[in-house]
Amino acid sequence: MNAAANLSTSVAELRAKLAPLGQDAYDLETCERYASMVEEINDLKRKRRAVVLAHNYQRPEIFEVADFTGDSLELARRAREVEDAEVIVFCGVHFMAETAKVLNPERTVLLPDMKAGCSLADSVTAEALAERKEELKALYPDLRVVSYVNTTADVKALSDACCTSSNAVKVVEAIDSENILFVPDRNLANYVQSKTRKRIISWDGNCYVHHQINPEEIARVRDSIPGIQVLAHPECRRDVLKLADAVLSTSAMISYAKNSAAEKFLIVTECGLSDRLLMEVPDKRFFKTCKLCQYMKMITLEGTLDSLRHMRHEITLDESVRDGARRALARMLELSA
Ligand code: 13P
Ligand code: SF4
Repeated sequence: MNAAANLSTSVAELRAKLAPLGQDAYDLETCERYASMVEEINDLKRKRRAVVLAHNYQRPEIFEVADFTGDSLELARRAREVEDAEVIVFCGVHFMAETAKVLNPERTVLLPDMKAGCSLADSVTAEALAERKEELKALYPDLRVVSYVNTTADVKALSDACCTSSNAVKVVEAIDSENILFVPDRNLANYVQSKTRKRIISWDGNCYVHHQINPEEIARVRDSIPGIQVLAHPECRRDVLKLADAVLSTSAMISYAKNSAAEKFLIVTECGLSDRLLMEVPDKRFFKTCKLCQYMKMITLEGTLDSLRHMRHEITLDESVRDGARRALARMLELSA
């Protein structure tokens, strides 16, 4: 990936790209403002030798300045391939920027807003994990800890391997133990348990965005739109996943929708993904359960520009934490290769 690969965007181009999302949110004045910020960001990217990595849940205008947009696994992989870049601006949440830093200790990693955290990542601390691990080791000497990437670097450092929504089953199946402590998402742990004969011991965490989605709203849409395909994220509750045609990571939902013969889809995850689909797959119809992640939406074009102008806010990590987290991430990439 080359630094500053994006070209500047004209107002007309930007309006055309954002049109599927409705003219109200992206009127002429807004598009003019965004186009000038996009240009300034692209200039600064060249000057700073910076790349912008963005998660699929980001605001649509952020996609305009991103050198790469993807799910957590793709972003972790891309973070290792930034070649000539000196700076990575991460448009996502704190644990994702930390992962980029773990994989790029020599580069400057910036997060436009330090308040962009994750309530799921906050549901497990390194202290609580260390205590639980010790208790369980006494019962299951072969215990291994698999932590979802939605965790802090010090939790990753205490784990045997990390996983993402797209490779959780693969990592659990490949790891050398029959007993796995899976942290912190209970819904994802339940999903993994439904796919493996190994013992999965779950943590009591959930993503507030996905956990609030209920089966009644899925059933209502399914009943009213014949032929609709339901694509759900594995962070959803078990009773919601039961109603899905496919359980997929965010990027896998995009590929599925593009390649499927179906024309109508209900996207059961954070709203940003439906926005991406509306822009990228204009010939199909997407319905959404529309839940917003307040943390993902803290990242704005203004904040990204500010971050590059003033080189803030920098992610720093203690070396021992970084080494431990790097080991767990490397194990994930190896087990799911
Ligand atoms: P993926 O994009 O890896 O499916 O993860 C979704 C998510 O919850 C990120 O916070
Ligand atoms: Fe965290 Fe959920 Fe937001 Fe992802 S969607 S960042 S898991 S709160």
